[in-house]
Amino acid sequence: MNENTDIRIIGRSGTRLSLIEDTLLTHPEFRVQRKLVVDFSKDAIADERTSDVLIADLSDNWEEELALLGSMRRASERAPLIVVSSEDSAEIIKAAMKAGARDFFTHPLPGDDLVAAIAAISGESKVRDVVPSSVTLVMNAKGGAGASTLAANIACLMSSTRRRDKTVLLDLDFAGAHQPLYFDLKGASDVREALSYVHSLDETALQGYTLEHSSGVHLLAATQDLAMYENTVSDTALAEFVSLLSMCYQQVVIDLPRPAEPNVLPLLQNADKLMIVMQQTLTDVQGAKRLLGYLDSAGVPRSRIRVVINRFENRHPVTHDDIESTLGDVEILSVPNDYKHVSTALNAGEPLVERTRNAPVTTAIRALTDNILGVRKKARRRFFGILPPKSADTEQNAGGKAA
Ligand SMILES: Nc1ncnc2c1ncn2[C@@H]1O[C@H](COP(=O)(O)OP(=O)(O)OP(=O)(O)O)[C@@H](O)[C@H]1O
Ligand SMILES: [Mg+2]
Repeated sequence: MNENTDIRIIGRSGTRLSLIEDTLLTHPEFRVQRKLVVDFSKDAIADERTSDVLIADLSDNWEEELALLGSMRRASERAPLIVVSSEDSAEIIKAAMKAGARDFFTHPLPGDDLVAAIAAISGESKVRDVVPSSVTLVMNAKGGAGASTLAANIACLMSSTRRRDKTVLLDLDFAGAHQPLYFDLKGASDVREALSYVHSLDETALQGYTLEHSSGVHLLAATQDLAMYENTVSDTALAEFVSLLSMCYQQVVIDLPRPAEPNVLPLLQNADKLMIVMQQTLTDVQGAKRLLGYLDSAGVPRSRIRVVINRFENRHPVTHDDIESTLGDVEILSVPNDYKHVSTALNAGEPLVERTRNAPVTTAIRALTDNILGVRKKARRRFFGILPPKSADTEQNAGGKAA
């Protein structure tokens, strides 16, 4: 257990908050603070996100309170939750679990059990503090631009021996998931089924739906059974699923085929990084401009967005500068065209970044991944002093103009 455990108790009844506080008084390692509220609100819950444990004392309004707590399941939004109620009803327990509560208690509180539940969470929060999770969406400005290729290789680099981040790749192309082919994997249960059980899923159950690649990447995808295809997943189920993934993995990479579908809007709004993949055609430029406009109207800050010109060629009539001037204020990177290496890796079912480590296309995808992760290029060291970074020309050869 942490030497000091920060506990926040939130609720609408001062008397019941005192009862919880009194139960924890005999533990000097607990730093307990109460928060009496008129109503549960997003701000009141988010304010306490850095504490080790949040104990929510439910009122008669429990349905709304739990729905709100459930909509804030990511570690960056809410502290791990324990729910306390004065009513012992199966319905409330079920709703509490659905909201991601780690434990549920009723008044009068069983002191020892509550302390044990806090201790378990507090031990885990040490790990969580060190490894915050990050969600990266990879999507096309226009179909076929290369989003799946880049998503597979970015995920692979994130979980590679260099970083060893626990990484999951979620393929949201329900009609024709390609990711299992990219990794030569088959056999897991369908991710659409996992999504239909999202309310009752936990980390253990989730493993039944994942395929594991030797790189360490865990893959979640639809099976190739088109007869089962039905895109009826609600926005809340998708958001809840991704929020569960971000509790279990350090890196969540999503291959997102149709970014304008209404059910993925919460994913766009909450992702840490959004990669728009395009090629050097006018229709791609138009698609990227439209998508950027859509993201602007959805309130996604440009600082989270990167445009990637895939299959980049220096001597192309649609130049990097043309694209930059049309798209305006957004960071642009590029990945060179390399049909031979990319298609050979795909046909072999091996990620490009594992099969062809030193090709310029791999270097560019590595630079892209470093950009997502916020890794700065190290200055090359010599015995005396530090060399300046490589010249822009050398960079262009390695990964296109801006990679
Ligand atoms: N940098 C590259 N150089 C050469 N070929 C590439 C490159 N990136 C992707 N490709 C090829 O382009 C084709 C389409 O790639 P991919 O399946 O990743 O596209 P996508 O945008 O996900 O397509 P869809 O819209 O169908 O989901 C594949 O054959 C792939 O091998
Ligand atoms: Mg694809």
